[in-house]
Amino acid sequence: MNLILFGAPGAGKGTQAELLARRYGLVRLSTGDLLRDAMREGTELGREAKRYYDAGELVPDGVILGMVRETMQGAADAAGFIFDGFPRTVTQAEGLQALLDDVGQPLDAVVVLEVDDEEIVRRLGARLSCPQCGAVYNRDSNPPKEEGICDRCGTPLTQREDDRPETVRRRLAVYRDQTAPLIGFYEQTDTPVHHVNGDRAVDEVQSELRRLIPG
Ligand code: AP5
Repeated sequence: MNLILFGAPGAGKGTQAELLARRYGLVRLSTGDLLRDAMREGTELGREAKRYYDAGELVPDGVILGMVRETMQGAADAAGFIFDGFPRTVTQAEGLQALLDDVGQPLDAVVVLEVDDEEIVRRLGARLSCPQCGAVYNRDSNPPKEEGICDRCGTPLTQREDDRPETVRRRLAVYRDQTAPLIGFYEQTDTPVHHVNGDRAVDEVQSELRRLIPG
C-alpha cells in the first residue's frame, strides 16, 4: 500500500502518518525529516538544503528526488510507503510515479488534510520537537509529561527553526502556490483523492483515515 498525505504546514501530516505507519506496517517517508537529518549531520546535501529550508522555500526537486530514491531503495522489502510532505511539485509527482513504476507498485490513495490558516499558526507556534529522536509535541494539545523534555529519550525539546511566524507565513504561501495545485493533478488520475477535516482531535482524524484507506 502506498499513500500520499497532503496538507499545509502543521496540518498534522507527521502526526497522522506516524500512527498509520504503525497500524499498517508501512514506512513513513517524510522529506522534511530526511532534510532535518541531513542538516543535523552537516552533510553536503544538508548544507545545500539549509538556505531554502530556513527561508520556508522548497528545496530543489533534484535534491528531493535523489533523497527519496535512495530511501525507497534502502527499504525495498517494505509493505509500502506513506509519503509525508512529498511530492510538493509536479516534477516531484512525476518522479514519484516513475519510482513506483520501476518497482511495479501502485499509488493507492491520496489524502488531503484540511485545516485553516489560523489554527495552523496556533499549532506551529506551540509545536516542540525532539532534536534527538524526532518526537513531536504541542504545548496546547500534546504536551510532554515533563515540561520541555522528550518523553521518549529525555532530550531537551526545541522549536523548529522554520516555525518562526514570518517563516510559517511564507511556508503557507508556498503551499498554496506550489503544492496545493497538485491535488488537481491527482484528481485527474485514477487514484482516489480523499479530503479530510484535520481540525479535530488527533484520534478522530486517525479513525477517519483508517476508514478511508484500503487494507
Ligand atoms: P516539512 O517538515 O515537511 O514541514 P511541513 O509540510 O511544513 O509540515 P510540518 O512538519 O510543519 O507539519 P505537519 O503537517 O507534519 O504537522 P505535525 O503533525 O507536525 O517541511 C519543512 C521544509 O522542508 C519545507 O518548508 C521545505 O523547505 C523543505 N521540504 C520538505 N519536503 C520538501 C519537498 N518535498 N520538496 C521541497 N522542499 C521540501 O503537527 C503540527 C503541530 O500540531 C504539532 O505540534 C502536533 O502535535 C500538533 N497537532 C497535530 N495534529 C493535531 C490535531 N489534530 N489537533 C491539535 N494539534 C495537532
